[in-house]
Amino acid sequence: MMKKAIIITGANGNVGAYFAHQYAEQNEKLILILHKQSNRVKDLIENGNVKLLYLNLADLNETKNKFDALIKKTNWLPTRLIHTATIRSHDFKPLVDTDPTLWGKIINTNIVGTFNLLKTVLPYFTKNQYGKIVLFGSNVTRIGLPKGSAYAASKAAIANLGRTLAAEEAKNNIIVNTVSPGPIKIDDSSFSESYRKFRREYYKEKEREIPLKRCATFDDLFGICSFLLSEENSYITGEEFYITGGKL
Ligand SMILES: NC(=O)c1ccc[n+]([C@@H]2O[C@H](COP(=O)([O-])OP(=O)(O)OC[C@H]3O[C@@H](n4cnc5c(N)ncnc54)[C@H](OP(=O)(O)O)[C@@H]3O)[C@@H](O)[C@H]2O)c1
Repeated sequence: MMKKAIIITGANGNVGAYFAHQYAEQNEKLILILHKQSNRVKDLIENGNVKLLYLNLADLNETKNKFDALIKKTNWLPTRLIHTATIRSHDFKPLVDTDPTLWGKIINTNIVGTFNLLKTVLPYFTKNQYGKIVLFGSNVTRIGLPKGSAYAASKAAIANLGRTLAAEEAKNNIIVNTVSPGPIKIDDSSFSESYRKFRREYYKEKEREIPLKRCATFDDLFGICSFLLSEENSYITGEEFYITGGKL
């Protein structure tokens, strides 16, 4: 019998690495999609349950070829997908001052990258007539993000891709939802000093506005994602869940 696997993109990111460790503890088979870095998941290095796959989601051929080759080699059956990979608007400039090349890169990585990922993974879910998907949006899909227009636009596009896909793929027993967090409590030590400063100020202000007076923890996110991907969830699809501590 083929072994069921969970795919996690952005697996070396804050959220992705935490999810990878949680699912590894539950002895799930994991396909961890990495880009450049792997420091946060080094301890999970390739054993029988975890496969690391380095690829650039913005490149469809690379994504498809490497993913297909891994499935052929392992004979695993992908059944669940958590898509956290993203790049941000780290120049934090208003749209009018934003470099068009950087704007295009963010849009391409986040939106086209999501398309490439789904185009690669969906045939496996369709063939098996089963699949559960959680895409990561952000609360900026409903409030915007001054000085982050490309990121905000790309996150809104991802949430709407999720709605569309849920309608298109329901006939194939594929369930798709988007989880849209507000600020998450993360380790920001790897950010540039200027971006860290911008982020800390932004988040301090946001925390004051959050009714529960704190940022989301990784556990807050893991709880809802594991439910959405579980057997218990057979009817919730096409939704966007805001994880914002009560902040509208
Ligand atoms: N952190 C927050 O406060 C917050 C708030 C709201 C929503 N979110 C959303 O939550 C999700 C997780 O956030 P996070 O903080 O964990 O993100 P993160 O730490 O920045 O991780 C993003 C990951 O995406 C990977 N990536 C970037 N470009 C890629 C590409 N071309 N191909 C494949 N992978 C690529 C990066 O790999 P490399 O580093 O190796 O390039 C990185 O591991 C994101 O979708 C984000 O939009 C986060």
